[in-house]
Amino acid sequence: MKIVVIGGTGLIGSQTVNQLKLSGHEVVAASPNNGVNTLTGEGLKEVLQGAQVVVDVSNSPSFADDDVMHFFKTANENLLPAEKAAGVQHHIALSVVGTQKLQASGYFRAKQVQEDMIKASGIPYTIVHATQFFEFAGGIVQMSTVDGKVILPAANIQPIASKDVAAFMAQTALQQPVNKTLEIGGPEKFDMAVWVKQYLQATHKSYNVASDANALYSGAPIEADTIVPEAAVFLGKTKYADWIVIPENQR
Ligand SMILES: NC(=O)c1ccc[n+]([C@@H]2O[C@H](COP(=O)([O-])OP(=O)(O)OC[C@H]3O[C@@H](n4cnc5c(N)ncnc54)[C@H](OP(=O)(O)O)[C@@H]3O)[C@@H](O)[C@H]2O)c1
Repeated sequence: MKIVVIGGTGLIGSQTVNQLKLSGHEVVAASPNNGVNTLTGEGLKEVLQGAQVVVDVSNSPSFADDDVMHFFKTANENLLPAEKAAGVQHHIALSVVGTQKLQASGYFRAKQVQEDMIKASGIPYTIVHATQFFEFAGGIVQMSTVDGKVILPAANIQPIASKDVAAFMAQTALQQPVNKTLEIGGPEKFDMAVWVKQYLQATHKSYNVASDANALYSGAPIEADTIVPEAAVFLGKTKYADWIVIPENQR
């Protein structure tokens, strides 16, 4: 079977490609760096020829509201018809737990458009909603810093190691489409500020961290369990405290 991984050079994509290669299938990592661009359509027809399964784990290079909407809309306008023409039998995409509840955020509006386009495409699909990756703690600090202070929503988070997400994506690629959304998360639920403080302490970064019931997450209001899975079908095994102490190049 031929499996194409769109965004196959990224954090999740490269690990998904490695996992899938172990299964003995033909696996192609597709990204602009190797001649496949979903925004321009370059290389799409060629790479999809003979493919049965497509895993889309691409992401927008810019998170500005207009850029991210342009990215997911245009990429799927090109990718989904090209898959249909090539006879792809299963489209798997990675999105985020709580996307439907975070529509005040430009990023999550764009992810919703991606999901809606997949559902309307007529291609059998599986959408995976994952929680925040362990590797994204620094990103949360960045997007929550105001005047040198990290102000986090008073909400919970159930982060997952990217390698566990990739293992689930690879497993899903080898199964039949379910035509619905599956939620996955990490093994432990934290208060967001407690988790971010663990990250800052382990990486020797000093920031002032505070919780604020009115703080936004990625520009959207959030309740206690908005970004926690409601019914996870899979929980990563890797615990954050064990992972954060491993040197980055050995994770
Ligand atoms: N961050 C989180 O905590 C989190 C949680 C849940 C779900 N997600 C979702 O997980 C997905 C993957 O995230 P990630 O962190 O693995 O992303 P990433 O490391 O930033 O990788 C992005 C990938 O997309 C590719 N790409 C960029 N522009 C492209 C284009 N025009 N055509 C084709 N490929 C393109 C990149 O290719 P090049 O290397 O060639 O640039 C790269 O392979 C995203 O869709 C995100 O919404 C993220």
